[in-house]
Amino acid sequence: METNNYSDDQIGRARVLDTPELEAYYKELETLGAGALWTVANDIEPWEPRSSSVPMLWKYDDLRSLVLKSSELVTPEQAGRRVVYLVNDKRKDVSAAVGWLYTGIQVTRPGESTSAHRHKASALRFIMEGEGGYTVVDGNKITFEVNDFVITPNSTWHEHGVDANGKTCIWQDGLDIPLVNALEANDYAVYDGKQSLVNEINFSPITYGCAGLIPADNTWDKPYSPLFKYSWKKVYPALLEAQVVNNTDRFDGILMQYSNPLTGGHVMQTMSASIQLLPAGFKGKAHKHTGSFVYQCAKGNGYSIINGQRFDWKERDIFCVPSWAWHEHHNASETEDACLFNFNDLPVIEKLGLYQGKEYTENNGNQMI
Ligand SMILES: [Fe+2]
Ligand SMILES: [Fe+2]
Repeated sequence: METNNYSDDQIGRARVLDTPELEAYYKELETLGAGALWTVANDIEPWEPRSSSVPMLWKYDDLRSLVLKSSELVTPEQAGRRVVYLVNDKRKDVSAAVGWLYTGIQVTRPGESTSAHRHKASALRFIMEGEGGYTVVDGNKITFEVNDFVITPNSTWHEHGVDANGKTCIWQDGLDIPLVNALEANDYAVYDGKQSLVNEINFSPITYGCAGLIPADNTWDKPYSPLFKYSWKKVYPALLEAQVVNNTDRFDGILMQYSNPLTGGHVMQTMSASIQLLPAGFKGKAHKHTGSFVYQCAKGNGYSIINGQRFDWKERDIFCVPSWAWHEHHNASETEDACLFNFNDLPVIEKLGLYQGKEYTENNGNQMI
């Protein structure tokens, strides 16, 4: 039977008291590239999941002018992509925003386009502002608007741009670069020139993103969603309708996962994304679970309490919830709903059998700040 006593001073945990003889023994092992497990066991086998990331909030009001400034300082040709990346105070060594996830804010001016490339890291984007933006994924050109969610699965050729008569576009990039690097499996290739289009513009969202219909002769066999864009114009009304017929989850309000329309599963193999609606006045209960999460407020304003610390957010602000951190979300408005987009590493956590969670029970399920 499991004990909830997390003291290391018990049978089953390492509790060796060092002696001069042991110290000499450790030194001898070290010269051979070895060590005694009991000197590190309690550290590498924590009682509960442990994250080295800290909760953080990145305010768009603070960052926006600096993101735009990058478009004056460097060209897309020089920088490849003009991105201000958001880095966790405790994950600078791996350029992660939280856990093994990377995020950044990219700017593209009207008439500009990036060169095409591909990598083993998967990527996604959530559009923050602008008009006339587009991406080309494996020869599929897709136009996007504010609050649209776009995927570029691993190893797909991709390039982005903004029409000459559009308005400067800013979007959030999310990638699993730190994870793929940790697995020592990343690569990068540059495309020679621009991709040729293989389908009509917006073929993917029109073919796979309408009314639950898919082509009867569908032959898609890739391990990711054939739907490359999830349009806010369809997502937000869907959230409002879901609210009518679903109970509001006490932790997450109305939480819906972007899914592969062919499988109902995650959109990509390593990263998932969700959108949630917090009804007016919603006060979420606290829980914690494994998986790292990067949020962007798509609508409204509110606050999240993460490990006892309050983070106030409004539209376009980005924040992170580390694995196993207590968190609860609140809508600060009594009249308007709030929407939070998030991307996460749940596909990896779930496939490896590592998902677990806990509900906060003291103080009626809410944390003390
Ligand atoms: Fe890329
Ligand atoms: Fe959660």
